[in-house]
Amino acid sequence: MATQGTQEIAEEAARVAVGILGGTGDEGRGLARRLAMAGNRVIIGSRDAGRAAGAAATCGSPPQVTGAVNEEAARAADVVIVAVPWEGHADLLTRLASALEGKIVIDCVNPMAFDSHGAYPIPVPEGSAAQQAAAVLSGSTVVGAFHHVSAPLLLDPDVSELDMDVLVLGDDRHATDLVQALAERIPGVRGVYAGRLRNCGQVEALTCNLVSVNRRYKAHAGLRVTDI
Ligand SMILES: NC(=O)c1ccc[n+]([C@@H]2O[C@H](COP(=O)([O-])OP(=O)(O)OC[C@H]3O[C@@H](n4cnc5c(N)ncnc54)[C@H](OP(=O)(O)O)[C@@H]3O)[C@@H](O)[C@H]2O)c1
Repeated sequence: MATQGTQEIAEEAARVAVGILGGTGDEGRGLARRLAMAGNRVIIGSRDAGRAAGAAATCGSPPQVTGAVNEEAARAADVVIVAVPWEGHADLLTRLASALEGKIVIDCVNPMAFDSHGAYPIPVPEGSAAQQAAAVLSGSTVVGAFHHVSAPLLLDPDVSELDMDVLVLGDDRHATDLVQALAERIPGVRGVYAGRLRNCGQVEALTCNLVSVNRRYKAHAGLRVTDI
């Protein structure tokens, strides 16, 4: 299939309704807030409808931002972001596989844990959280993105531009182009294609390095890729 032009894909990204599974957490609310500010319709998902509605009210107002249980959020959206902790990832996606069929699913989950030395990556049998999602969601197109976008920055009302690249990984050119364009709706962000889904493990694990950077330098570090 011929690839779409930049303008065309940007227009498509502007039209998509974005569902966020686990959208009541910091990362989900942060992405919801920024995408709603950019003009996208957002449906915040939760295991509890009341919590979803409460979180939605902090990110915008209906009909642009609404809350629903995760399954409804998945069904109502064109593109769905998975923003739950690694512990709930496989179970939730297995239960929602039919609701997510035919959709682009963006996985930002970082399988990691903490001990007295800081953060470290948890080995994933499938290779990465995104590959696990792809294995569970055979009817969806899975893309990895937003792994390094810090929730405190997304939620900070004093931060108007994020000044970072978002690495986007996946096996479908239209889906990665669309997710790059969606990321770029957040001011200051550039979406950068960073390879096939099989290379998502090291991108997820790199978050542990950024956690160390953040602790040492008291920062919310992001990434920039040079020479492109
Ligand atoms: N925080 C960051 O800066 C950041 C940055 C990049 C990527 N991420 C990734 O984004 C994901 C979410 O991060 P977060 O900090 O927002 O996490 P979080 O606040 O701990 O969790 C997000 C939401 O997931 C739901 N949830 C919790 N346990 C669940 C389970 N077992 N099954 C299904 N849903 C569950 C909860 O919503 P309900 O109780 O309302 O259902 C919760 O509000 C993580 O995988 C993380 O690695 C985080």
